[in-house]
Amino acid sequence: MSDVLLAVDGISKSFPGVKALDNVSFAARAGTVHAVCGENGAGKSTLMKIINGIYHPDAGTIRIRGEEVQIKNPIDARAKGIAMIAQELNYVPNMTIAESLFLGRLPTKAGRVDWGHIKREAKRVLAEEGLDYSINRKLGSLTVAEIQTLEIVRAVYHSADIFIMDEPTSSIAHKEVRALFDKINRLRSEGKAILYISHKMDEVFELADDVTVLRDGEWVSSRPSAETTPDRVIAEMVGRDLDHQQYPKEQVPLGDVVLKAEGLASDNLFEDVSLQVRAGEIVGLAGLVGAGRSEVVRALIGLDKLHAGHVEVDGEPVKLNNPKKALDKGVVMLSEDRRLAGIIPALSIKKNATLANMKKVVYGGYAHAREEQKIVDEYFGRMRVKAPSTEVKIASLSGGNQQKVLLARWLIAEPKVLLLDEPTRGIDVGAKWEIYRIMTDLARQGKGILMISSELPELLGMCDRIYVMSSGRLTAELERDQFNQETILKYAMNEIEVA
Ligand SMILES: Nc1ncnc2c1ncn2[C@@H]1O[C@H](COP(=O)(O)OP(=O)(O)OP(=O)(O)O)[C@@H](O)[C@H]1O
Ligand SMILES: [Mg+2]
Repeated sequence: MSDVLLAVDGISKSFPGVKALDNVSFAARAGTVHAVCGENGAGKSTLMKIINGIYHPDAGTIRIRGEEVQIKNPIDARAKGIAMIAQELNYVPNMTIAESLFLGRLPTKAGRVDWGHIKREAKRVLAEEGLDYSINRKLGSLTVAEIQTLEIVRAVYHSADIFIMDEPTSSIAHKEVRALFDKINRLRSEGKAILYISHKMDEVFELADDVTVLRDGEWVSSRPSAETTPDRVIAEMVGRDLDHQQYPKEQVPLGDVVLKAEGLASDNLFEDVSLQVRAGEIVGLAGLVGAGRSEVVRALIGLDKLHAGHVEVDGEPVKLNNPKKALDKGVVMLSEDRRLAGIIPALSIKKNATLANMKKVVYGGYAHAREEQKIVDEYFGRMRVKAPSTEVKIASLSGGNQQKVLLARWLIAEPKVLLLDEPTRGIDVGAKWEIYRIMTDLARQGKGILMISSELPELLGMCDRIYVMSSGRLTAELERDQFNQETILKYAMNEIEVA
């Protein structure tokens, strides 16, 4: 048994109307990965933010190597050897790599910032890590995975030994996930402790030595991963057995083509993309991160510019040059990046959900509050949105719950066509199945759905047809009886392999 590096004991934390954490304890051992699992809103991120000094607990203690500590703020946390690799990366796009490595602790010489030292050190560190980019590159030009790598490199350089990773794989490509796991394994072998949060059970069971489960802010269990199973963890997370061996897929009769796109192109991003979706059909858009899938749907809805091609909705040619116009024509998009294209932080979750739903609750210029509340309650109930009331600001919700509110917005709007970009990203396993059931309902009602997903099982389970993209082009169109994991991967890697 290795030594306990970090121990939290009896931690409680309340926000207005919510007890986010209630007497939570667990211990992370040196040289291990400790996964923290729980449904959306269970308190995982809050616990990590307390360890990182962003929030202060109402009660409880934190000990590092047996010694009780008060963690005042994130800078203090860093001084104590704690590094949080944030999920929603906050960085200054204009900062250079060299500056970011020394962020908050610029070395000085005779009272001045020692730039010579910074540059020499930055070069040395990057070279040591085998990262071949210039130290003068701006953070804004790096990908999410590159910034993540850099944050880890920085933490290692400043001798952190407790690493917090909150859903680190949610926006990076498969290859980058492997590289991240290699890094995590290296940190583990060097005796660090890694706290790892993920909704993906396969990741948890590949990486973790120990698994702690939280439910509704309460500690449920901590066990070596060898002594538990994904099913058991899930059952502990949701407090009941979940029976979901089968995707709730139903074959419904398909209607007319509701969305048709021909010859779509956008400079440098994608070209010659033609696709169609019929009423009642769930169509997948598969491909690796960077294949151009999000770009296609963004352009379809008018968020980005199309340079060629034409689009028809319900057989009628349309120019969807902005999302409002698309909504008028019955086409909506759930964005993969909820911070950029989605939530309005200062508004309540009810307002965020009903924003687009003019027809349903506005009669003669008046919004029907009762009707509105009924619809909101129904969807929030089905998806298990965890919030003290529908009046709280959306910004105070956990990541996965914000995603559910956004999805509710588009369901309430009753569109003809839904473009869903990674609809279950960050959503806990239980709520995922409810989202699949909702998709099935929508198909039954004759809606057309185009879904982007990086999770192949989800595409295979739910789609009638799948288009595969690679390097900005469609490389395959597969019917349900033709598709399987290997075929899709083959087409997804089409050109990348050759390059
Ligand atoms: N700043 C805040 N103000 C008010 N409530 C908050 C705040 N931060 C978190 N909460 C609430 O605390 C609870 C726990 O949220 P937390 O973000 O820790 O969940 P989580 O387990 O990380 O969920 P997810 O899997 O969705 O990321 C939720 O009910 C959330 O709404
Ligand atoms: Mg979270």
